[in-house]
Amino acid sequence: MSDTLRMGIAGLGTVGVGVIKIIEAHGARLEARTGKKLVITAVSARNRDKDRGVDLAGYAWEDDPVSLAQRDDVDVYVELMGGSDGPAKASTEAALNAVKDVVTANKAMLAHHGQALAELAESKGAVIRFEAAVAGGIPVIKALTEGLAANEFSRVMGVMNGTCNYILTRMENAGLPYEEVFKEADALGFLEADPNLDVGGIDAGHKLSLLSSIAFGTKVDFDSVYLEGINRIKIEDIHHAAEMGYRIKLLGTAKMTTDGLSQSMAPCLVPANSPLGQLDGGTNMIVVEGDSVGQIVLRGAGAGEGPTASAVMGDVCDIARGFRISTFGQPASSLSQARSTMSTAATPYYIRMDLHDMPGALAAVASALGDAGVSIDRMSQSRHDDNIAPVLIVTHACTWDALSQAVDSLPQTGFVNGQPVALRIEDV
Ligand code: HSE
Repeated sequence: MSDTLRMGIAGLGTVGVGVIKIIEAHGARLEARTGKKLVITAVSARNRDKDRGVDLAGYAWEDDPVSLAQRDDVDVYVELMGGSDGPAKASTEAALNAVKDVVTANKAMLAHHGQALAELAESKGAVIRFEAAVAGGIPVIKALTEGLAANEFSRVMGVMNGTCNYILTRMENAGLPYEEVFKEADALGFLEADPNLDVGGIDAGHKLSLLSSIAFGTKVDFDSVYLEGINRIKIEDIHHAAEMGYRIKLLGTAKMTTDGLSQSMAPCLVPANSPLGQLDGGTNMIVVEGDSVGQIVLRGAGAGEGPTASAVMGDVCDIARGFRISTFGQPASSLSQARSTMSTAATPYYIRMDLHDMPGALAAVASALGDAGVSIDRMSQSRHDDNIAPVLIVTHACTWDALSQAVDSLPQTGFVNGQPVALRIEDV
């Protein structure tokens, strides 16, 4: 058995550079902890000449990540390029086919191809580890697969996109509209190259689908995640929510119900005094509920050089120690195909709409909700200068089906201007 573990790193962006810095700064400590010398033998990135602030002279260079993944002097292929397909997937498959372990931060690739990659890894006797793919530095994959392995999980929830949480809390704290804070976040470099991955809830939906698989023993099913972004949230929604004692979060929720697996990544109202309600800025939080352990709250940096590289290196250390585990915590062949459902549990909803201020308008809205079986708990109409009245309704607990039917029918009343915004009020 060799006393050295040789890493090949593909992708030298923020996270790749963070990994190099950890190896350089903490080589002796990592060797003491794992019993192996952790070394980088080769690297690959799009641009060889870019100054990244780290010295790459000691590492072999490969233009092609597939060649890097197949090198004889690489034991662990560290994929940090991103992208669901293309070079990331091709090189990951190449590594697994060459019986090399893979450590990746790539949530998109695993959300779309996790089952096939897990099967390939297991058929070859290799492992895939992906702590860095979900919630950056928070060790939630290890928590679910190891520390909490004894539990039956009832619910996994969380704020898993720091950019959205930054935007929502900045809107609230500075009283700024979404569009302005979006531009600020862009200028600060917070947004992904395709901003819709962040604000459309896709990035966070990828992460939720991976947690669901582990928590419920199901095949990753990203296509069944109900996705809704934050771009229709107005500062008024945030103020209304605050007046009622809530804050708006892009909240991921996964539950196993008698009707199937419910996965949702959508803006929700959560109690302001709950751990999730108190989460500010770019931080992430995962809340896990297990039958034996009760509720566990994990909080920390969801992105960035240090936190994400910390998660990558945690996985590398496990491999160095000889700890091997199935990708999603149990053999890929034993993961079931879950029936997907929207949660059947009844919850209250917040509905905001603009109403043409004319006789019969409120009555028509109340009747549309009533016809769908949705009962109004609270209702208010704000002061307005023109003939469009902002109306806010909080419903009694109702099912998603009833709520959707009600909201879909509102524009047909002829009194509602534009599309209403409906947000679940989640008890956390
Ligand atoms: N863009 C993500 C976020 C980090 O803002 O949290 C990468 O998943």
